[in-house]
Amino acid sequence: HRKRHLGDSIVARCFAVVTLALVGFKLSWNFFHFVFTTFLGSWLNLNLNLTDYGPWSVVTGSTDGIGKAYAHKLASMGINVVLISRSSSKLQATAREIQTLYPLVRVKTVAIDFTGDRSIYKAIASELMDLDVGILINNVGMNPGFCQPFTDLEDENVLDDIIHCNVLSMARMTHMILPGMIRRDRGVILNIGSISGAFATPLATVYAATKAFVDKFSRDLTTELGGTGVIVQTVLPGYVMTNMLNDTTFSKSSWTVPNPQDFVEANFRTLGLESRTASFWYHKLMLSFCETTCFLFPDAFSFFARKHLEGLRVASGPLNSLSFTK
Ligand SMILES: NC(=O)c1ccc[n+]([C@@H]2O[C@H](COP(=O)([O-])OP(=O)(O)OC[C@H]3O[C@@H](n4cnc5c(N)ncnc54)[C@H](OP(=O)(O)O)[C@@H]3O)[C@@H](O)[C@H]2O)c1
Repeated sequence: HRKRHLGDSIVARCFAVVTLALVGFKLSWNFFHFVFTTFLGSWLNLNLNLTDYGPWSVVTGSTDGIGKAYAHKLASMGINVVLISRSSSKLQATAREIQTLYPLVRVKTVAIDFTGDRSIYKAIASELMDLDVGILINNVGMNPGFCQPFTDLEDENVLDDIIHCNVLSMARMTHMILPGMIRRDRGVILNIGSISGAFATPLATVYAATKAFVDKFSRDLTTELGGTGVIVQTVLPGYVMTNMLNDTTFSKSSWTVPNPQDFVEANFRTLGLESRTASFWYHKLMLSFCETTCFLFPDAFSFFARKHLEGLRVASGPLNSLSFTK
């Protein structure tokens, strides 16, 4: 009996030691991975050099916010840019800005509203036909009714618009440009999702669901393209100080809410080092923390996520269509 007891306690101790060693290894690995992909890798010049991937880039939603910052960054590296966005006047203004700063870079503009029907893709394809596109940034996205209950979206057409703009645009643009990249055996595709697509986000249900699609599509495509020369990265930003935060309590950039330029710099540091990333150091920590908490305590996480989004509403009036729950 004593021998069996001794045997049991040795097994229990071994189990505890192995568990602690595995947890310790995982935590050390996560820490090293964070430091390497966020700072060290790019400092050692191990991240991608985008100029190796072709003379042209395409950025959707490129007249404001993060997309505009991507366009400027690519042009600063000497890469030609096709700007695709909704408003012609903003396209012209952005093209002029880039050409003034980088006179050797060619800029092409395509005025398209991604909420339109499928004919828009024929129009885009005819504009891109003769270009050697090495970089595609699927950035365009809209988020009307952020921090509002789903049923407060009064115009039901908005639902079609969000899905067309955030989901279909990415799949269609990738389907259009990817075959050329595979033929040339080189290409980089960045799909801009959102941290909100990775876990429960009440009060942004449709938007967050479109971003979950971006995440899943992009991760699976990364694996499917293994062995080709095409690299796909899923980008999951946290809050970035752009027009998208207009109806929230955020009013200026800070160490937790970067401006679009700082976000893009951080993202380029991770290229080739990570296939799925929140890019900016604080967003990376937030993603890890939220994914772990959501996994361990899903109900508590959803409750606090809802409280957080309610707190972000500028107009702190009642949540109209949910007021009956009070
Ligand atoms: N900002 C954040 O906190 C945040 C966080 C996570 C993820 N993201 C994602 O990052 C991406 C960029 O967001 P952002 O904050 O930079 O947005 P933004 O400042 O609102 O800029 C959006 C850009 O897309 C264009 N656009 C919007 N709707 C369009 C449409 N239907 N057709 C064609 N172009 C359209 C806009 O052009 P016009 O100016 O002509 O409308 C503008 O150039 C989005 O996918 C967003 O979901 C943003």
